[in-house]
This record gives sequence, structure tokens and C-alpha cells, in this order.
Amino acid sequence: MADAGFWDRTARKYAASKIADMGGYEETLARTRSFLMPEDHLLEIGCGTGSTALKLASCVKQMTATDISSEMLAIAEEKRADTDLENLRFIQTEATKPIDGAPFDVACAFSILHLLDDLDEGLAHLHSLIRPGGMLITKTACLRDMSFALPPLIKVMQWIGRAPHVNIFSSAALEDAMRKAGFEIIESGYHGKTRTTRFIAARRT
Ligand SMILES: C[S@@+](CC[C@H](N)C(=O)[O-])C[C@H]1O[C@@H](n2cnc3c(N)ncnc32)[C@H](O)[C@@H]1O
Repeated sequence: MADAGFWDRTARKYAASKIADMGGYEETLARTRSFLMPEDHLLEIGCGTGSTALKLASCVKQMTATDISSEMLAIAEEKRADTDLENLRFIQTEATKPIDGAPFDVACAFSILHLLDDLDEGLAHLHSLIRPGGMLITKTACLRDMSFALPPLIKVMQWIGRAPHVNIFSSAALEDAMRKAGFEIIESGYHGKTRTTRFIAARRT
């Protein structure tokens, strides 16, 4: 089940934490921007504290950013209040629920697909939210590609309430699931130093 309570509890700490690999983050922003058009309505699911949404909104006509956590979105609204962005709205909702304004030209899902209860169901829903020919842009922790010691460690962390529900899959399995959901992979690779968090841009066929 989606873990809003975990994210509400960790929101302020998450907001205060520094991006571990700024070069990788900047590269992801640049590659994402390359798929955006000024007329687009852009969706971001699992937007967290809104940092990325605030950086992308000025590239498109309209942006909708959603998250399950009210605490994450409260911080996002605080940050937005310091800007003059008028084309960005934040909505509290579960990633697999319908969203007013669909279909979107582009949907972004950064560090969220591995957190969904059911990856196939989540991808099928994203497919329904994107117009035909539109793009899904993702960056996802593919935990199966990491050390074999990690899954048991995550179990322990979950047991003591220090980790949310996560799905463990490889980048190859994620790409297969995206194709099965009706996406064509356009670009796939790693940004910055990480070799565990996969950037994938895919077109809705
Ligand atoms: C690891 S954070 C990533 C935040 C942001 N995308 C980023 O890259 O910094 C995961 C975010 O997804 C949200 N989330 C987790 N499960 C969700 C779900 N089922 N539906 C919507 N949002 C969810 C959490 O509240 C949290 O803000």
C-alpha cells in the first residue's frame, strides 16, 4: 500500500538533504528539457518538495505536479511562493489515480516508479495519462542492478520504519515493463556518477 505517512514524516529532512550528484541531476534536467516544447502541458508524478517542477515549469505552457504526501506538497508550495511561476499547480493524489487535465503531452516520474505498489499497473496508468505520441521521462532506482546485500538491508530498514515500500527490479526489467505497457524506448542511460539509477525517455506508441 502507498506509504504517505512515511513520506510525510521524512518530508522536512528530505527537503534539507543535498543532491548527492549535482552533475547527474543537471544532466537529467538538460535531457528532460530537450523533450519539452513551449506549448506542452507537463505532468510530474511523485514530485516531492517540487524542486524539479520549479525548474521545469518555465519550459512549458502548463505544469501539473502531484504527490501523495501533503507534507512534501506543503514544502513545494512554500518554495513556489518565492517564485513568480503562475503555470504550475500542485495536487495531492496517488500516482495511479486519474488526474484532471489529462491527457498530458509529457509525464515525468523521477525516483518514484520503484515505490509504486504495482509497476505494471502504474505504467498502464501513465500510458492512459499521456497523449498518443507523448513522452514519459523517468529516472528510477533499479535495485536489482545494485549489490545483492541491498534487498535484505532494505527489509531491515522497512522493519524499523526507516524505508518505504519498494519494488526491486533491474533496468532491463523496467525497460521490458515499459515496452509491455505501450512505450517505445527513445533514450536510456546513466547520468553523472551513478550506475544504479536509470534515466529512460519513452514515447507512448
Ligand atoms: C524519493 S521521493 C522523490 C521526489 C522527487 N521526485 C525527487 O526526485 O526528488 C518519492 C516521492 O514520491 C512520493 N510517492 C511515493 N509513493 C507515491 C504514490 N504511490 N503516489 C504518489 N506519490 C508517491 C513520495 O511522497 C515522495 O515525495
